[in-house]
Amino acid sequence: MINVLFVCLGNICRSPLAEGVFKKLVEDEGLADRFTIDSAGTSGYHDGDPADPRSIACGREYDIIVDSISRQLEPKDFTEFDYLVAMDESNRQNILKAAGNTIKGFKLVMMRDFDDEIPAGGSKDVPDPYWSGQDGFTKVYEMILRSGRNFLEHLKKEHNLT
Ligand code: 4NP
Repeated sequence: MINVLFVCLGNICRSPLAEGVFKKLVEDEGLADRFTIDSAGTSGYHDGDPADPRSIACGREYDIIVDSISRQLEPKDFTEFDYLVAMDESNRQNILKAAGNTIKGFKLVMMRDFDDEIPAGGSKDVPDPYWSGQDGFTKVYEMILRSGRNFLEHLKKEHNLT
């Protein structure tokens, strides 16, 4: 199994959408039985909450199920998951801090390491859409979809999946 955890701050906007999009991409390729896919937040601000209604609505528009319940990143994630995918640089820093010596147990990447449409000198962050309108969520969805497709291609090569 390839175990992938998407991580943002609150686990109600970006990472639940990334989880839903990546599950759909994997299912569409017939690879669902090869993956465990989950999401978490570096904070526990929204522990137990469903995803933000704007993330759920955005998913629905593109046939993506966004049904995660917010949870905070926990120590066992650092050993149970093979890939932690941070949505932005502050998430990445917080993951490093929380993992401490268990950092060697997983690969830490950023979602937009796999975005092939970042303009020269542009940020690698998936911006936090929490304070934006629905349009901010659509932009985030587009970044996540582009990156997710390329991330899956990367994993298929790395793990010899056909
Ligand atoms: P997320 O967005 O990290 O994409 O889930 C946020 C949601 C809530 C808060 C911050 C970011 N908050 O501060 O409550």
